[in-house]
This record gives sequence, C-alpha cells and structure tokens, in this order.
Amino acid sequence: MDLMLHDSRIALAIDESLGWRHHLHERPELLYEVHETAAFVAARLSSFGCDEVATGIGRTGVVATIRGRRGESSRRIALRADMDALPILEETGLAYASKTSGVMHACGHDGHTAMLLGAARALAETRAFDGTVILVFQPAEEGGAGGRAMIEDGLVDRFAPDAFYGMHNLPGLPVGRFAMRPGPIMAATDEFSIAIAGRGGHAAIPNRTADPILAGAAIVQALQQIVSRNTDPLDSLVVSVTQFHSGFAHNVIPDEALVSGTVRSLRGETRDAAERRIHAIAEGTALAHGCTATTSYVRNYPVTVNDAGAAAFCGDVAARLVGEAQVDRAAPPLMAGEDFAYMLEARPGAYVFIGNGPSANLHQARYDFDDRALPFGIAYWVSLAETALASA
Ligand code: NI
Repeated sequence: MDLMLHDSRIALAIDESLGWRHHLHERPELLYEVHETAAFVAARLSSFGCDEVATGIGRTGVVATIRGRRGESSRRIALRADMDALPILEETGLAYASKTSGVMHACGHDGHTAMLLGAARALAETRAFDGTVILVFQPAEEGGAGGRAMIEDGLVDRFAPDAFYGMHNLPGLPVGRFAMRPGPIMAATDEFSIAIAGRGGHAAIPNRTADPILAGAAIVQALQQIVSRNTDPLDSLVVSVTQFHSGFAHNVIPDEALVSGTVRSLRGETRDAAERRIHAIAEGTALAHGCTATTSYVRNYPVTVNDAGAAAFCGDVAARLVGEAQVDRAAPPLMAGEDFAYMLEARPGAYVFIGNGPSANLHQARYDFDDRALPFGIAYWVSLAETALASA
C-alpha cells in the first residue's frame, strides 16, 4: 500500500471526513434543494483556505479553487462530487440515519462529498502541485441534470478546467479496489411514453370497440424485438416498459392506455435506432389493432464517455495507491445514467468506481456508504491532483 495513505495530512483529513459523512447522512436533501449541504460544503472549503469559494453555481452547486504553491503552471483540473440524496425511506437503523423521513443518502453522495472535502483539506494544506485544482460539488445528480445546470451557469467558461474527474462508489466491488474503463462507462438514459387511443365500450360487445389494452399489450411485447432483433448482439441496449395505465371498471373497455418506460444505450447510433423503432413499433402495432399511438421520446443524460488517456491515468493513480491487482482497468460499463456525462462532453476526463464492499445496492433503503472507503477515495483524489499537476 502506498505511503499516501499514511501521510499525516491525509490521516487528519480521513478523521474529519468521517464526521462530515455522518453529518451529511443525517441531513439528506433532494435534487437542487441541497441548501444546507451546499452551505456546509462551502463553510468547510472556506475554512481550508481555498483561494475562491463560489456558491449558487447551477442554483445550488459549489465550486472552489486551490492554486498550487509553485504557481507557475496554467494547468487546471476539476474534481467533482455530487451532493443530493433520494426520496427513499431509510431502513438502515444506523445511529446516524436520516432525520428527514422519506429522504436518504441511498447513493452514497454523502460519502462522495466527504471524500472530496477531505481531499480539499489535504490539497489546500500543502499545495504541493503546480497549477489549479477546481473542486466541483454538484446538486441534482439524481435525475435533475445538475451537472448540465452548472455548465450552463459558467462552470467551464468561468473556471476553465482542462479536464474533469469523477468518482462513484460501487457496491459489490471490495473496499480498497478501483474500477474504470476507457470509452463508455455509463449509459445514456432516455424515457418514452406511448399514448394509445382506441374506442371504448361494453366489455361484452368487444367487436364494437378498438381495445387500447390489447394494443398496449401487443406494443409491450413488440418492443422486446428492439433489443433481440434490431440491435447488434455485441452492442448493449435496454428497453424496459415500467408503466402501463388503463381502465377503470371490470366490465368496460376503456378509450385509452398509456405505456411508458426507459431506454439505456452506450452508443449514439444505437440510441437513435431505438428511438426510431419505438415510434415505428408503437404506431404500426396500434394501427393493426384499430387504434392510434402517439409517442413521445425524451433524451435525458448522454453516455458517460471516458477519455482513454485519462482513464489510463486514473488507473495508474489508483494502482500506485492500492496495487495493480486491486485495479480493474477494463470494468464493464453500467447501464445506469450519470450526469457527469455533461462534464465529459465539455472536457476530456474520466469517471471511476471505488469499492463499497458487500453493501446493499445503490438506491435501496438498506444501502449505506462504507466508511472504510473514505481513506482510499481521499488519497486517490489527492494523488490524482498532485500527479496531474506535478512540476515539469
Ligand atoms: Ni449516485
């Protein structure tokens, strides 16, 4: 194990980060409403002596900068954490469980925030690098596109990072391990909604109706062919129907049905093709049942694409910290979405996974961030910054 983990300033940061993590866990906030969290983060960053602490970037995002003591280089790198929680009723029974009923840190963003704060503390203390570290704490990762909001509010123009680096904990990956890959690492996440219009009537006289439920059932079945028959077997695509609403009485065929769901893809062409096929299948199948279908398709987060060189660099940083055997440089991508994707569209960089051990899965009521991962995350961030901005 690398000496970095035993460095005294890292040890101090680790000690403090545990308290921050539990404090944040008790006070989860949703989407852009991370007011207390952002204030807590900004206060810590100011106390570390960051050169600049800007709040309200992308509504409730916080950005801080730390200039290296050598101060000659114009290089600038951004390290990003997310701050928001989820609308889930916590069932962990922990002493520091959420004090807000129905809201919990079920994705470990409390841990991400605590780790980046710990790194900021250590980086600001010694400033043993040449260039500028930009610390990005974003709101609304869980479906609110807070990363995009921060970019629209000047994150890239005003702070001018050359590269973005992100990190997320991963249940199932042992604590002390890191995983990443070059290229796509998280999926594009889209949603579709198909409104089927038929002609309702008496359930005992179906021949005088155009049954939207039967049309909807056929559409749900037919959508399965997009993955099984329209997509290269070596490519990855998810088409999941997650809602089907229709009807109100056992003896009435309704006028309408609504089918909706999600599409996850790793390539632009696959995404485009899935959108086209959903339209064609919905409209054609509805027509075959005497109904009509109106499809809306909304593109949410884009694919999170790691720059190959940046991913290799992150792998090297992690390997120096925990040993090559603890680093998976060719991890499979996840079909979940991540709005860090917008930052990687703006600048090159890489997103890595840090092991959270055998915890409950993300977005589950019994999930908790594993505090044993704090030292690894803090040391990784510090090492990454000091290596990327090492003196020439
Ligand atoms: Ni998350």
